[in-house]
Amino acid sequence: MKILITGGSGFIGTHLINRLLNDGHEIYNLDKIPSPALPDHRQKIIDILDIDINDSIFNDKDCIIHLAAMVSVPRSFDDPVNSFGNNTFLTIKILSAAKAHGIKKFIFSSSAAVYGSKEGTVAETDSAEPNSPYGLDKLVSEKYIQMYCQLWGIDYLILRFFNVYGVGQNPQYAGVITAFNIAAQKKEPLIIYGDGEQTRDFIGVQDICHHISKLIHKNINNEIFNLGTGQSISKNKTKTRHKPLLKTQKKSDHIFFKLYFSFFFCSMLKYGKKQAFNPQTRLDKIKKHQHNRRTS
Ligand SMILES: NC(=O)c1ccc[n+]([C@@H]2O[C@H](COP(=O)([O-])OP(=O)(O)OC[C@H]3O[C@@H](n4cnc5c(N)ncnc54)[C@H](O)[C@@H]3O)[C@@H](O)[C@H]2O)c1
Repeated sequence: MKILITGGSGFIGTHLINRLLNDGHEIYNLDKIPSPALPDHRQKIIDILDIDINDSIFNDKDCIIHLAAMVSVPRSFDDPVNSFGNNTFLTIKILSAAKAHGIKKFIFSSSAAVYGSKEGTVAETDSAEPNSPYGLDKLVSEKYIQMYCQLWGIDYLILRFFNVYGVGQNPQYAGVITAFNIAAQKKEPLIIYGDGEQTRDFIGVQDICHHISKLIHKNINNEIFNLGTGQSISKNKTKTRHKPLLKTQKKSDHIFFKLYFSFFFCSMLKYGKKQAFNPQTRLDKIKKHQHNRRTS
């Protein structure tokens, strides 16, 4: 399959390109920065906000996997205009290009942030009530995708990723697992936003890539799926798991950031009915993850 990935040079994109190349696909990347995994002629290095939707990078592709985004929830509060541009507006551009080039399949990386601050398990059938500009931008992008794809006969899959962790995550916007790993290695305090009792559902980046790799081949379309593990863990527990990694541990700071509290984890109600699900990466193997990070 000829697949164009937007944001292929980022954290998830890097893993996904490797996985899909291994699967035997012909992969193209559209990003501001180049991916070392691909030759120049398989990439277009440009700010997508400036790309012409008739650009030849979109020619003859079977599928677009749209990952490019401004991914930081805190940053979206500081700069909602930029968040809108690099999330919603950017998605509309890629959709318009898909329509212009007759691309048949569109896969979108949405986020659990569309649910806002719910409690307990969150299934795909639950209402989306975002409480951040980022979450709202993802939800509006989803609505555009559904409308465009229905109007123009494009098959879509909207995948709501929960907290993704793994090797190569940008430390600046890293989720708590990567942030704790980095802090633990530097012997720095493990900073918790909130009281640490918020629960999150952490999914390994390899599992995300595995699902996408499988979904490309399946005849499952026009669905919204949660992608998590179905297991929640509090940030305080996550921190305890990191303790053995620390030779010395300073008292952690507790920073309260009330808009960002969440207590939910993922139910893959709809996804589970369509696909077998068995997470390959487990948080109790965090030491292995830490080790991999050092050696890779
Ligand atoms: N990492 C997570 O925990 C998580 C959770 C939920 C959803 N997601 C979603 O998954 C996707 C990938 O996330 P990630 O963690 O790999 O992010 P990332 O920041 O590592 O990668 C994003 C990539 O998009 C590119 N990009 C952004 N704006 C661009 C623009 N205007 N023009 C060209 N390139 C641009 C960046 O250069 C970068 O390579 C995003 O859509 C994100 O919202 C991630």
